[in-house]
Amino acid sequence: MPSIESAYEPIKFAYWVPNVSGGLVVSKIEQRTDWSYEYNKKLAVLAENNGFEYALSQVRYIASYGAAYQHESTGFSLALLLATERLKVIAAIHPGLWHPGVLAKFIATADQLSGGRAAVNVVSGWFKDEFTKLGEPWLEHDERYRRSEEFIRVLREIWTSDHAEFRGDFYRLHDFDLKPKPLSGPTRPHPEIFQGGNSTAARAMAGRVSDWYFSNGKDFDGVTEQIREVNTEAAIHGRAVKFGLNGFLIGRDSEGEAREVLKEIVAKADREAVAGFGSAVKQAGQSTSDKKGMWQDSEFADLVQYNDGFRTGLVGTPEQIAERIVEYKKRGVNLLLLGFLHYHEDVVYFGEKILPLVRELEADLSASGKLESELARHGVLAVS
Ligand SMILES: Cc1cc2nc3c(=O)[nH]c(=O)nc-3n(C[C@H](O)[C@H](O)[C@H](O)COP(=O)(O)O)c2cc1C
Repeated sequence: MPSIESAYEPIKFAYWVPNVSGGLVVSKIEQRTDWSYEYNKKLAVLAENNGFEYALSQVRYIASYGAAYQHESTGFSLALLLATERLKVIAAIHPGLWHPGVLAKFIATADQLSGGRAAVNVVSGWFKDEFTKLGEPWLEHDERYRRSEEFIRVLREIWTSDHAEFRGDFYRLHDFDLKPKPLSGPTRPHPEIFQGGNSTAARAMAGRVSDWYFSNGKDFDGVTEQIREVNTEAAIHGRAVKFGLNGFLIGRDSEGEAREVLKEIVAKADREAVAGFGSAVKQAGQSTSDKKGMWQDSEFADLVQYNDGFRTGLVGTPEQIAERIVEYKKRGVNLLLLGFLHYHEDVVYFGEKILPLVRELEADLSASGKLESELARHGVLAVS
């Protein structure tokens, strides 16, 4: 069964590409992170040499809260693919601002040029201004997800069929033949499709069509609840979905030092920008009838990291962080999506001090034969 197989694989790591200015926290604390290509090229190479399998580029078209400048996600992702040898780069894209056929073509080219390392993150959007300033309609929340689901179905159809056909409410294809196709193999029929979004509509969409589900930062119970629900949805459709969890990682040699850094980030928050962001994200899951979704119960300190990354609790010594990561693995998390304060330094610290401990703990867990019972105990074994 796919999900138990992926649970036995070593947990994977991705990092947020800092392709927008201002870093990953809305704070005036010193951040040695830079959004330039030069900085990012060096970071991508450091990351692939320090245990990162994936990088995730962000999509943002206009200045937002604490992020005044942005590099476009698909072009930037391709540049990073060409600057690296093994890193898989996931480009975030908005249905509604791309035709899926045009994106399918772009990603097929990126995949060909990079030897099969291109991927997409389909995000349904929270930033209304971005759409209205571009003169595009802002659909109601669940309609955005209906469009995203069609978008993903179209991508898959184009990447895997010689005579792609599609008749939907948002998109149509007529005998469309993409050549060349992206690279494919037994474990990867087409570029991987990730999705961001945690509302009820997002969970249902993941179960039906996504390869990966990204969660905002969560504690153990929060992520377990989502994994259970998405697994249940996926099982109805005979599928399995993999899980990525966001977390902002502050690793230091002493716990006190790490906690001080977190305290300083929050104390120096850009309060006006955080408040603006908190208000704009009400367009996400909070705008639905059950009010489930990202940021639905975020507090001020949570919003200082765009994706509730402090909630994952990856703050402390290498030992404390490694233990927590493996606890997430026991709850069905397949990948951690990490953000850092000073990327160049922190990515190397992660690779040298934290990752070896994670791998040791995982080896102990495998040797004990207890992973399956742990997954079962948390109710996250997918049923096919
Ligand atoms: C890992 C991750 C990455 C995301 N990246 C972006 C992004 O680059 N640009 C963007 O506008 N939204 C991004 N989003 C937000 C989504 O567009 C969406 O608004 C959000 O997930 C709220 O979804 P919900 O209403 O289903 O909870 C991301 C979400 C997640 C979980």
